[in-house]
Amino acid sequence: MDSYEWNKIIGWVLAAAIAVLGLSILTGLVYAPGHSETKGYVVEGVEIEAEAGGAAEVVQPIAAFLATANPAKGEAQFKKCAACHTINKGGATGQGPNLYGIVGAKFAHIAGFAYSDAIKNHGGTWGWDELSHWVESPRKFLPGNKMSFAGISKPQDRADLLVYLNAQSDSPLPLPAVPAVAEAPAAEAPADAAASDAAPAAGEQATAVPAEAPAEATN
Ligand code: HEC
Repeated sequence: MDSYEWNKIIGWVLAAAIAVLGLSILTGLVYAPGHSETKGYVVEGVEIEAEAGGAAEVVQPIAAFLATANPAKGEAQFKKCAACHTINKGGATGQGPNLYGIVGAKFAHIAGFAYSDAIKNHGGTWGWDELSHWVESPRKFLPGNKMSFAGISKPQDRADLLVYLNAQSDSPLPLPAVPAVAEAPAAEAPADAAASDAAPAAGEQATAVPAEAPAEATN
C-alpha cells in the first residue's frame, strides 16, 4: 500500500512536471515573437518620457532661455528663415515680409505685404512669447497662416534666434525679467541639512567595508 501511495505521488509529480514543461514550450512559442515586441514597447516608453521632458522644457518661459542666449548662434539659426525673409533695414520682400525690427513690432508690420487673415486680424505686437511660440510652430500658434515652416523645437535655439532678431532693430527691446523660481532656495536648505545628516552615516559604512574584505580572502 505504501509503495502504491508513492507511485501515485511520483505519478502526479511527473504529470505536473510534464504539464509545466509543455506549458513553457507552448508559451515559449507564443511569446517568442512577442519578445522583441516587448523590447520595442520599452523603447517607446523611453521615447515618451523624453517627449514629456521636452514638453516640460517648453513650459518653462522663454525668458529663462533669453537670459543666456547667444546672438551669434541666433544668426546661424536665421539661415532657416533667410530663404523667405530679409532682415536688413528696408530689405526686400521675399516669400515672407522683411523682418527688420520685428521684435516689438505690430502683427503684419509691413504695409504692402499680402498677409493671411490669421496674421492681419491678430492685432497686438510681436513680443518675446508670441515670437517664441510662432517660431516653435507657426501652424499651432496661428492656424490658417501661410508661413510654411515646421518650427524650431529647442527653446535655447529659439532664444538665440530671438536675441539676434532683437538686435536687428532701431530700438531693441530690453530682455524680459526671468520669473523667480520659488523652488530654488527652498530646495537648497533641506539639501544642506541632509548632507550634514548623511555625513556620519557614510563614515560608519566606510569602516564596515574593510572588516568584511579580509574574511573573503582566507582561501
Ligand atoms: C517658407 C518660407 C518661410 C520661412 C522659411 C520662414 N517664414 Fe516667416 N513668413 C513667411 C510668410 C509667407 C509669412 C506671412 C505669413 C502669413 O501672412 O500668414 C511669414 C511671416 C512671418 C512673421 C510675421 C511678420 C509680421 O509682419 O507680422 C514673422 C515674425 C516670421 N515670419 C518670422 C520667421 C522666422 C523667425 C523664421 C525662421 C525661423 C521664418 N519666419 C521662416 C514665410 C517664411
